[in-house]
Amino acid sequence: MEALVELERVKKHFVIRDGILGRRRRFVHAVDDVSLSIVRGETFGIVGESGSGKTTIARIIPRLVNVTSGSVKFSGIDICRASGRELMLARRRMGIVFQDPASSLNPRVTVAASIQRPLQLAGLPAKEARDRVREVAELVNLGTEVLDKFPHELSGGQQQRASIARAIVLRPEFVILDEPTSALDVSVQAQVLNLLLDLQQRFSLTYLFISHNLPVVRYLCDRIAVMYLGKLVELASTGVLYREPLHPYSLALLMAAPPPDPKMRNRRRFILTGDPPSLTNPPQGCRLHPRCQFAVERCRVEEPELRDYGSGHLAACHRIGDLDLGFAM
Ligand SMILES: Nc1ncnc2c1ncn2[C@@H]1O[C@H](COP(=O)(O)OP(=O)(O)OP(=O)(O)O)[C@@H](O)[C@H]1O
Ligand code: SF4
Ligand SMILES: [Mg+2]
Repeated sequence: MEALVELERVKKHFVIRDGILGRRRRFVHAVDDVSLSIVRGETFGIVGESGSGKTTIARIIPRLVNVTSGSVKFSGIDICRASGRELMLARRRMGIVFQDPASSLNPRVTVAASIQRPLQLAGLPAKEARDRVREVAELVNLGTEVLDKFPHELSGGQQQRASIARAIVLRPEFVILDEPTSALDVSVQAQVLNLLLDLQQRFSLTYLFISHNLPVVRYLCDRIAVMYLGKLVELASTGVLYREPLHPYSLALLMAAPPPDPKMRNRRRFILTGDPPSLTNPPQGCRLHPRCQFAVERCRVEEPELRDYGSGHLAACHRIGDLDLGFAM
C-alpha cells in the first residue's frame, strides 16, 4: 500500500506571548511527536476533543503552518523543505474544505469567481476555466443559476457544495476535510457526506476526514487516528477500533458518542472526568493521567510509547494487557 502522506515525528509548538509587554513566551504543544501515514485511496479519520491538534495537522500537510520539527511528505515530496515552486505544485494536488464554507468563498465575488480562482492562479485560459467551473458545479449538484450569486445568497449546504467545488476544481488526489459538515443542518449533512463519497469513488480521491461526529467517522473512514492533547494515542482500522479499542481515551470517546453502540453496553463504563489540561503546560507522563481512572504511579512519570498490537493497531498506554476494560469479544 502506497503512502500518499507521511508525517514523521511532527511537532508544532505555537508561541504565545503574555505578561507585561508580551515579554513572557509560552508554548502551546498543539501537535507533539505525531507520526502517521495516509495510504492512497483511503479515508483516514482523525478524532479527538476540541484542542487536540486535529486542525493543526490539517494545516501542516499543505504547509499552511510550518512544523517546529519533524518531517512531512506528500507523494514523496518533502513539504517542509520544498521550494516555493515545488510547494505550489504539491498544493495544487491537494484540496481543503473547512468547517466554515465562508472561509473559502470570497464574500465580495460570485461563487463562480471563487471556484475559478485556483484555475486562474494555475494559469488556465479563461474560457477553459469557465467550462471547468460549470463542469465541477454539476459534479457537486450546484445549479448553474447559483454560480452567479454571492455566498451570502446561498444556503449553508449550497455554500459547502461550492467550497467542495473549489477544493476539487484542480482535480486533486488528496482532499483534507476539516469538520466539513458540522456547521450544517442534520438533513443537509447526509447529502454532503454522500456527495463526498461519490466524488471519492469517481476520482479515486484520498481523504483526510476530521470530525467530532463519531457515527459519521465510522461510516466514512477506513482507518481512524485518535488524538489527545497533541498526541496520537490510538490508530486502527475503523472496524477494529470500534470492536476493540485499546486506549482508555478511545473507549471514553466511543462511550460518549450518540447513539451508544449496543456492543458497548455490557462494557465497564469509562467516562473522563474534568476538562483537558492546559496545552502550555501538559501533564508529565501520560497526558491523560489526571483524567484517567486507571492511572497508576508509572503513568504520572513515564510517557507511554505508541506500540503496535498487531496489524497496524497502535496504542500508547502503559496498562494495555493488564487492564480489564471489558473489551473481551
Ligand atoms: N495560531 C495559533 N496560535 C496559538 N495557538 C494555536 C494556534 N492555532 C492553534 N492553536 C492552539 O493549538 C491547539 C490545537 O488547536 P487545533 O485547532 O489544532 O485543535 P482541534 O483539535 O482542531 O480543535 P477543534 O476540535 O476545536 O477544532 C489549541 O490549544 C489551539 O488553541
Ligand atoms: S497510560 Fe495510564 S493514565 Fe495513560 S491512558 Fe493508560 S492507564 Fe490511563
Ligand atoms: Mg479544528
